[in-house]
Amino acid sequence: MKAAMTSSQQTLDSMHAKLGGLLPDFEIEAKAVLVDEINRLKVERNAVILGHNYMEPALFHCVADIKGDSLELCRKAAETTKDIIVFCGVEFMAESAKILNPTKKVLIPSKKAGCSLASSITPEDVQALKKQFPGVPVLAYINTYAAVKAEVDICVTSGNAVKIAQQIDSDQIIFVPDEYLARNIAKATGKKIIFPENVLDSALKTDGVLQKVFVGWHGKCEVHDLFTVQDIKDVRAQYPDVVVLAHPECPPDVVDASDFSGSTSAMINYVRDVSASRYLLLTECAMADNIIAEHKNKEVLRLCSHRCPHMAQITLQDTLDALLYDRYEITLNEELRLKAKRSIDRMLEMS
Ligand code: 13P
Ligand code: SF4
Repeated sequence: MKAAMTSSQQTLDSMHAKLGGLLPDFEIEAKAVLVDEINRLKVERNAVILGHNYMEPALFHCVADIKGDSLELCRKAAETTKDIIVFCGVEFMAESAKILNPTKKVLIPSKKAGCSLASSITPEDVQALKKQFPGVPVLAYINTYAAVKAEVDICVTSGNAVKIAQQIDSDQIIFVPDEYLARNIAKATGKKIIFPENVLDSALKTDGVLQKVFVGWHGKCEVHDLFTVQDIKDVRAQYPDVVVLAHPECPPDVVDASDFSGSTSAMINYVRDVSASRYLLLTECAMADNIIAEHKNKEVLRLCSHRCPHMAQITLQDTLDALLYDRYEITLNEELRLKAKRSIDRMLEMS
């Protein structure tokens, strides 16, 4: 009979110190067993675990070797010397790691970790846009699949979109697929926004030529789309001194009503660096838990009724199974990978 796994006292103590008060004791005890096993196997298999900021606290704080937003994880994935990358995030992120590391085994612990933005656009959609707007540079949010990345000029993330858009020497820019991010970045860079269906709007043209515009797409993040200005008003009514942080995937009116907007890591750094009585985070609520674990003296409010169902697919058990059974491996056609890599390489050069 197989002996039941137990956790070491050292792991239990360190998990209680990090996560006590945030997770109930019985959950810490159950997860400590998995944490020990994952950390043992990780060394045995010469693997590295990358964890997006949205991972649940035990996974984020106790097994991830490298943590961050999409841009940071992309950069770090390009630098690793390990044989195996276990990507605790969603599929488009694991794909980016594979694009940058063709000789390494890249595993994602669940096949169900998609993204509503990544599935909102196809390579054929991008081809049609390029036909409609010939010669116009195409920027794609990193939240796209490899086949779409292969069709575009440059990738961007929420952490570098403004910086990259400012470097593009063109009055018109196609920016896909996130409508809200496009609207927020267009505003920040002094451009108007149009969509393929309203290109005939003469108000947007001078002498028949399009003015400075972003050509957007109607993709949305199913999580950030749910935050409203009313949510902010309600929280401000209760806590007038609250500082509101919104991810740029939120609707523009929500970003405008907030005090700060930035990538997931920019929000984490803001809470770390800027002192306030309390903060409201308009993003996936696991991230607020991760911040609280590190800043127990700070009051971080979150609206946990809006969760990312895709990020939540990645559990400690699945991460252990990924290491035990080599699953689920990301594979890409080499020609497609090389085409997709160009747009990521350009992003890394420009950010
Ligand atoms: P970041 O690049 O800011 O981490 O965002 C990724 C994401 O999917 C947010 O929903
Ligand atoms: Fe995609 Fe939104 Fe989930 Fe981020 S939070 S992975 S953009 S569905």
